[in-house]
Amino acid sequence: MNEMTNKIIGTPLDRVDGPAKVTGQATYTADYRPTGKTAEGFIVEAAAAPGKIRKIDTQAAEASDGVIAVLTHHNAPKQNPYGTPEDAGRFTQSHAMLESDHVRHVGDPVALVIAETLEQARHAAKLVRVEVETSEGTFDQFAADVEIAKPDSLDGADEVDTSTGDFEKEFAASDVTVEASYFTGAQHSAAMEPHATVAEWGGDELTVHMAIQIVAPGLKAFANTLGIEADKVRILSPFVGGGFGSKLGVHNDAILAALGAKVTGRPVRVVQTRRNVFSNAPHRSKHRQDLKIGADASGKLKAISHDSLAAMARNYPFAEAPASPTRASYFAPAIKTTHRVVEADIPRVDSMRAPGEAIGTLTFETAIDEIAEQCGIDPVEFRLQNDADRDPNSGAPLADRRLSECIREGAKKFGWDGRVTPGSRREGNKLIGRGMASAIRPNFLVPAEAEVVLSANGQLRVRLDMTDIGTGTYTILTQVAAETLAIPVDQITVELGDSHFPASSGSGGSFGAASCGSAVFDACGKLSKLLQQRLSGKGIAANAISVEGDRVRAGGNDYALADLVDDGALTVKGAVDPSEFDHGEEEYSYGALFSEVEVDVDSGEIRVRRLLGAFDAGRILNEKTARSQLMGGMIFGIGGALLEESTMDTRYGSFMNRDFAEYHIAVNRDVPELEVHMLEGFSEKSNPLGSKGIGELGICGTGPAIANAIYEATGCRVRKFPIHMEDLLQHLPQS
Ligand code: MOS
Repeated sequence: MNEMTNKIIGTPLDRVDGPAKVTGQATYTADYRPTGKTAEGFIVEAAAAPGKIRKIDTQAAEASDGVIAVLTHHNAPKQNPYGTPEDAGRFTQSHAMLESDHVRHVGDPVALVIAETLEQARHAAKLVRVEVETSEGTFDQFAADVEIAKPDSLDGADEVDTSTGDFEKEFAASDVTVEASYFTGAQHSAAMEPHATVAEWGGDELTVHMAIQIVAPGLKAFANTLGIEADKVRILSPFVGGGFGSKLGVHNDAILAALGAKVTGRPVRVVQTRRNVFSNAPHRSKHRQDLKIGADASGKLKAISHDSLAAMARNYPFAEAPASPTRASYFAPAIKTTHRVVEADIPRVDSMRAPGEAIGTLTFETAIDEIAEQCGIDPVEFRLQNDADRDPNSGAPLADRRLSECIREGAKKFGWDGRVTPGSRREGNKLIGRGMASAIRPNFLVPAEAEVVLSANGQLRVRLDMTDIGTGTYTILTQVAAETLAIPVDQITVELGDSHFPASSGSGGSFGAASCGSAVFDACGKLSKLLQQRLSGKGIAANAISVEGDRVRAGGNDYALADLVDDGALTVKGAVDPSEFDHGEEEYSYGALFSEVEVDVDSGEIRVRRLLGAFDAGRILNEKTARSQLMGGMIFGIGGALLEESTMDTRYGSFMNRDFAEYHIAVNRDVPELEVHMLEGFSEKSNPLGSKGIGELGICGTGPAIANAIYEATGCRVRKFPIHMEDLLQHLPQS
């Protein structure tokens, strides 16, 4: 960076999009009003599955007030078969809707009712009569007669299975062992904004306003579904009200809206209802995770194995990697991990925030707590003494390994004073316990491009197809541009979420800030160089420049931008190429979580009293939005430990708790004082900005820190999540 750097990266700059959001100026998809008169679509879901539609009667719906069309498999435009081409992967494969009489899962759309108003569409949707002839389905991967398979690949992990050392030998030679099965429930991302799309055709060109996290692959998904060229599609997603993985790709509302707009010749809006989201958007599978851990008498780990079993939605290739953190958290001479899936006739299974680590640290860090306990070693000490000095699985060097620093910092800030005898700390009728856990999450860098346009008046526009899903993207990209070009924040406009802009990483996997920030850094760096060259061309020495108003400052003087830009503006493109940061070292973000809980001795009610995290995410780009990300993650972790579960009736394959009355997410009453500490750092191996992923880090380790505290409070080790009061009730002392 040049010496004129104004050091704005890292500062707690308020969200630049904050005023637009709080005044209603930020246009979320459902708010978007096309110029043409919009028709409203309402999804009719199958009540039973899998099977075939024997009969669908739309007459009454068609005759209902305001109804423009009722789309079913009889009249839906032709599409490419669902799941094709086979090598496309889940983000770009055909996502055909209403393509045949086949019904995949309960809640699969069987019709889209399109009417003048939402109320008319919703009313008419109730008049559609559907008979489904069901066939035998698989709904529960834990059932006896299922077919267990090895997935072709895993999300966010290189290998499906790994094995180093001789597990059987090391486990047999261990002095202390833990061997247990852990269960985590199915979950839904539960973003505040339900999935929504407004689609409109202009001739053979499709424009879709939609809530999506990663724009560029979405174009291909529309192309592969509708049999059109990707360059005939434009996606606009300027504001997204939370995604948490459920909006990584194109989902049912998007394709249905495109089909509806085609048939009616009008813009069509499809906004999923909250209940729709539980069957028309993806979810996290429930998992069984079998863990075996062995250590010697001194508490040195000798053997770890972690086997995961998930459900995979039929014809939708996604499998989560809960054993990913197990491969890299601690050193052991033998580590073995496997992931297996059962194809099931259930709604789509896909990434949900901190895929792998959210539920992987939940079980693994509980098991680590169990073995530390059995070894008679303090859980903090146990983790410190088993920290890895190289990647335990691959043997590769670890870039900026700071797990132990996080643990030490967290312990100090929390006031960790060692474990007490479980059940021994009591205040009145509350049992008090403390617990901790490590957090680890792989750090990714993904190709991204950006364009910056500097006008003669000094206005800088930053453009890329990146999205801001509430994380603060608009703000941190503003900061990166401001510092790199040395230009005031109020002269910058960041424009996101338009597929006509350069393709970026999008938002996902905690890689957005690093990837897109690096592309903007490159573009602004090049723009700065270009301005310097132009000044040199005029005989002005300019080693360092800054922009202020419509002037460029260099060497104590200033010059009119108008004399340096062509045709009123300078446009420069930048990019980040992850292969340039491929140095053979494994990169992770790290953390340590500490919690204190109370358990009511009479009712078993669990309350989190304190939650503290110490984190290493390299250089922090914005102190305020980073803290918000970590706090949000920790709140998600509370949900994972205690609240969130989508319960399926496994006789029929239907989720039963499809609203926020019954799908419980943590609310204010569930969230105690949260304390976030961020280590100072600069991860020079990660990317030019020195940052690492932060969005999902707070989730990792939070759940097990709570579960381990519940153990200390009660002496009861619960191995299924979320942990409920009834799991504890019969184990509590008589008050
Ligand atoms: Mo994330 S689960 O890649 O939004």
